[in-house]
Amino acid sequence: MFKTIRAQIEEHIQHLFQEEGIPLVPLKWAPLPFEGVWGLSTSFFQTAAAEARSGQKVIVPQRAQEIAELVRDNLGNLPGIARVEAVRGYLNLHFNAGEIARRVVDTVLHQGENYGRGAQKEERVMVEYAQPNTHHSFHIGHYRNTVLGESLARLMSFAGFETIRAAYPGDIGLGVITVLWIYDKYYKGQEPSGVHERGQWLLNLYVEAMQMLTPRDDETPEERAQREAWDAERRAMYRRWDAGDPYVRDLWEKTRAWSLDELRAILDMLDVKMDVWFYESQVDEPAKEIVDELIARGIAIDERPQGPVIVKIDELLGLDKEKYRTAVILRSDGTTLYITKDLALARLKFEEYGVDRSIYVVDNRQSLHFQQAFKILELWGFEQAKKCYHLAYGFVSLPDGAMSSRRGRVVLFKEVADEAIARVRAASKRKNPGLSEEARERAAVEVGLGAMAYAMLSVDNNRDMVFEMDRALSFEGRTGPYIQNAHVRAGSILRKAGGLPAQADFAYTLSEQELVLVDMLARFPDVVQQAAEEYRPMVMAAYAYDLATAFHAFYHAAPVLQIESPSVRDARLRLVAAARRVLANALYLLDIRAPEVM
Ligand code: ARG
Repeated sequence: MFKTIRAQIEEHIQHLFQEEGIPLVPLKWAPLPFEGVWGLSTSFFQTAAAEARSGQKVIVPQRAQEIAELVRDNLGNLPGIARVEAVRGYLNLHFNAGEIARRVVDTVLHQGENYGRGAQKEERVMVEYAQPNTHHSFHIGHYRNTVLGESLARLMSFAGFETIRAAYPGDIGLGVITVLWIYDKYYKGQEPSGVHERGQWLLNLYVEAMQMLTPRDDETPEERAQREAWDAERRAMYRRWDAGDPYVRDLWEKTRAWSLDELRAILDMLDVKMDVWFYESQVDEPAKEIVDELIARGIAIDERPQGPVIVKIDELLGLDKEKYRTAVILRSDGTTLYITKDLALARLKFEEYGVDRSIYVVDNRQSLHFQQAFKILELWGFEQAKKCYHLAYGFVSLPDGAMSSRRGRVVLFKEVADEAIARVRAASKRKNPGLSEEARERAAVEVGLGAMAYAMLSVDNNRDMVFEMDRALSFEGRTGPYIQNAHVRAGSILRKAGGLPAQADFAYTLSEQELVLVDMLARFPDVVQQAAEEYRPMVMAAYAYDLATAFHAFYHAAPVLQIESPSVRDARLRLVAAARRVLANALYLLDIRAPEVM
């Protein structure tokens, strides 16, 4: 916010120094701690020291103070500056609060939805998220992944990076084949209706199959033989898929589409628009080529047919301690593994999409997996492996217990979302009976999903979290609805005012709440950069809460429509409009909608 004012001052000082024959040393500026007024500070020790070096007889601290006083006496009547002090070689500039408020509010309203957007940067970044396995279902962990990835993508793009959003559903692997196997065995021809029902049904099949295939402590020899026979059937089916058997491929395509339809429906709900869709199946063949190359170059060891193809990463790096361990990159039967496909995918991203950086939003249990994959790529000589970054996030559970698909206690996103939306709808009927059904429905979705997104994004992504619905839906505390409500309040003041004055001066003594609110608005562009550079949507989530708090405090303390003075009313209306704009921009970056009513 101080950039323009600072540039003005620097120009002024340069001018003065030239006239006085004082050497020009770049000045370092720091904001003065905000205490109801804004200010900047700099010092002239470097300047005085430069004079000393050039042979003038000066005592540095004393000379620094002299220069500071000289500058002070010269800057006196620059617009926007209320007070200048020269103390012990430092120059402290206190700005005129009303002038700063006007500049901030004008800038926000002028730039609108682009307020806070960073200058275009050279780098192209790919963010990969939304990668559930097909033949499974979209659970609450996938949801955390998706909002985290979407928020990061929005932040990167808004900060000025060219950003590509990529999905990567795991549409092939032993898990997928497991579902095909049981479907073919017992459920052939069945198909539930409804996009979500169909997608979720596949998860039931998976759970049932895993019960059949998982060894039990008390199993009899017959049971064991049965289980092994089933497992052999399943693996044979994988080999048939691998060989391109039309029957297995048809079965696969049909059921795969059920899952992908459900995934697309959910991404629509979440306002996520992917630029690129990668699939594991698409990198299966290229992955095998990489394995051949790794063998030829002596990086991988081929133990087939007795054993798999492996890469002894620690040994190749000459590490004594276990770090990356040994990775299996091809099964003895020639089928690829999850890691094999990641080798090919990484290359595809850089070579076909010309990205400079590649971010993978994937849960933190896969940290070793990515360390191994990126290391193997590096050993292979793929330089860009260093530009791959795993953004890890923790596990999500609900208060009554953890979820695990193997145990069949998966918490489905859709079920949680439906419940959150239903609760908001019910509360709205009680509190706001006059609302039209259409407006109520829209608000229920916006607030229900907003509450969920904020709960996910407001905690450190690396931490495991417990999703507590009542807390997330509350209008008090660090929640989505609390922030959305600030936006609604601001909108309703503006609607009642019936129009926004085209300009206003803040030529009155601003209250503390107004000063704090203006300060929050001014900080937004820096917060965008920080959140993007650190890959931390949480930084934006925390900011949005602080901004909403500042707005609510202002709302309670400073009358807008009731104030007598028309010039104060105009200024406050513009401040409300600017706050509403920045709240909307911040919510957008969190993949949360900014409602009109709630
Ligand atoms: N489909 C995987 C899973 O559900 C996540 C994929 C992550 N991305 C990747 N490039 N490996 O665990």
